[in-house]
Amino acid sequence: MEESKSIDMQKEEKIVEEEKTIELHTIKKEKLQFQRFTRLNRVLHILMIVSFISLALTGMTLKFSYTGWAVFLSHLFGGFESAGYIHRFFAVVMVSVFLTHLFDLFKMKMREKKTWKGLIFSKDSIMFNRNDVKDIIGTLKWFLGMGERPQYDRWTYWEKFDYFAVFWGIFVIGSTGLTLWFPETMTSILPGWFINVATIIHSDEALLATGFIFTIHFFNTHLRPEKFPMDIVIFSGRTSLEEYKIDRPAEYKKLVESGELEKYLVEPYPTIVIRAIKVFGWIALSLGFSIIVWIIYAMIFAYR
Ligand code: HEM
Repeated sequence: MEESKSIDMQKEEKIVEEEKTIELHTIKKEKLQFQRFTRLNRVLHILMIVSFISLALTGMTLKFSYTGWAVFLSHLFGGFESAGYIHRFFAVVMVSVFLTHLFDLFKMKMREKKTWKGLIFSKDSIMFNRNDVKDIIGTLKWFLGMGERPQYDRWTYWEKFDYFAVFWGIFVIGSTGLTLWFPETMTSILPGWFINVATIIHSDEALLATGFIFTIHFFNTHLRPEKFPMDIVIFSGRTSLEEYKIDRPAEYKKLVESGELEKYLVEPYPTIVIRAIKVFGWIALSLGFSIIVWIIYAMIFAYR
């Protein structure tokens, strides 16, 4: 009698133990986040931010050298001449980031054994496709209260636009920047007047890129109501499952249906890491907005 009671008790304890494990597992799973960006993507984006802001600050210091703010900043950079050297250093960083990304795409192509065409037009590619037209129309209807929020997929149309804007920008700004950097070499091939043209193109494209990144890109990523005041996914690489389901419903549905969602679930970062990320984010946002205020001021009150 005593013995069977103890066996029953043991069984009961085992069941309670198993239930606890299942409960713990569920809680742990609920806490898991969706991994959206690889480590290399995140590092490259951080280096892109650092180099872009540095290039914009030093470049605008040269462009608006007649404003008080440019004089103030030039002192921080060690003078106008050294602002030019800092500019060249970060130009090398930015071009290296771009080349590393191209190399990463090449590695992806080899890994997936695809042709360039196959890679560029693959399922989750960032290349524009017919769905983007549907999403643009759907978004306009949603803004006007004439429909639901579109079922966005892995990449939204505005993210694709931002991505290709960098390709175009690097080509135009980089080639004209190199012309300004090595004028003697360039004018051994091109006519002398091209230096003046390169200065105008470089300067105006820089203004366009800076204006776009620190207003439209900032609004689309950080200031829209769902993300305000900041979306840190590009730094942490991960987002909560609830947010992911709402943000990218089409991709979420596909991953659940194919049973692949689990592959992308990861532990969240500790609070201290998130805090450090937010400090970096606030610094970048503040510098970007300050540059916009400076450009508007220079254009309205001091433009020459
Ligand atoms: C990525 C490759 C780049 C290269 C190779 C490059 C190179 C240069 C060089 C050599 C100059 C002349 C500097 C001097 O006079 O000492 C210059 C000027 C300038 N750069 Fe860049 N740069 C690049 C990217 C950028 C970016 C991304 C921006 C802005 C976001 C920018 C904004 C400017 C501006 C505003 C000027 C002053 C132009 C003027 O005098 O009107 N540059 N750049």
